[in-house]
Amino acid sequence: MKPHIVVLTGAGISAESGIRTFRDSDGTWENYRIEEVATPAAWKKDKALVLEFYNQRRKQVLEANPNPAHLALVHLETAYNVSIVTQNVDDLHERAGSTSVLHLHGEIRKARSTVNPTEILEITGWQLNPGDTCSKGSQLRPHIVWFGEEVPALQTAAELVSTADMLLVIGTSLAVYPAAGLIYDTPPECQKILIDPNAPSVSPDFTIIKKQAGTGVPELVNQLLR
Ligand code: OAD
Repeated sequence: MKPHIVVLTGAGISAESGIRTFRDSDGTWENYRIEEVATPAAWKKDKALVLEFYNQRRKQVLEANPNPAHLALVHLETAYNVSIVTQNVDDLHERAGSTSVLHLHGEIRKARSTVNPTEILEITGWQLNPGDTCSKGSQLRPHIVWFGEEVPALQTAAELVSTADMLLVIGTSLAVYPAAGLIYDTPPECQKILIDPNAPSVSPDFTIIKKQAGTGVPELVNQLLR
């Protein structure tokens, strides 16, 4: 059986694809405060603003391409059972070719019914607008986990991490819970590696590689495949 590598990724892995990270920009996100656009209260207050904010983010994602870090993780599948658990809402892991990707915080290229959470639709193009409705006639919302909302994929992610032979953490500040807590769900013998040029503090059993993902991930993957 192939060894199991769980890869926990954050915004940093997509930075070199041109998608800005969240906390490298002074508490704002593309000039919005997170509470203005990424909370249930924001949605209640101004749906048009929230939809337009995510339209702009979606446009950016569609213009971006996977970088060498995303591509190297696909290569890793030749010798390992690789489970990607990502906090990112972009689809760059899938477009690179990774076969097992779990999105903790939703997927920007999908919309969800506001009355039936199991009705999830692909968005064609970059826009989701006021008046776009589900099969029951209710406004569609971005398929994103907002602050203050539950993380439905958390249990599945924790189960994956609990069977990891290696945990590889890439490009995340580990500032947002419950996702950040996943690093504590590893079995005792699991090897842990973190790749981030500005690595957050973690327990001493982590090997820290202070490099950008586009360089550090292909180097590590080459080592692991040697
Ligand atoms: P953050 O913006 O908090 O952290 C990004 C991390 O990426 C930082 O630790 C940077 O040092 C690192 N970084 C920057 N450039 C990098 C590069 N080229 N290579 C590798 N690492 C690099 O992003 P997340 O930790 O992903 O949630 O944020 C977690 C969640 O907070 C997001 O999923 C999002 C956000 O609010 C929702 O939208 C629900």
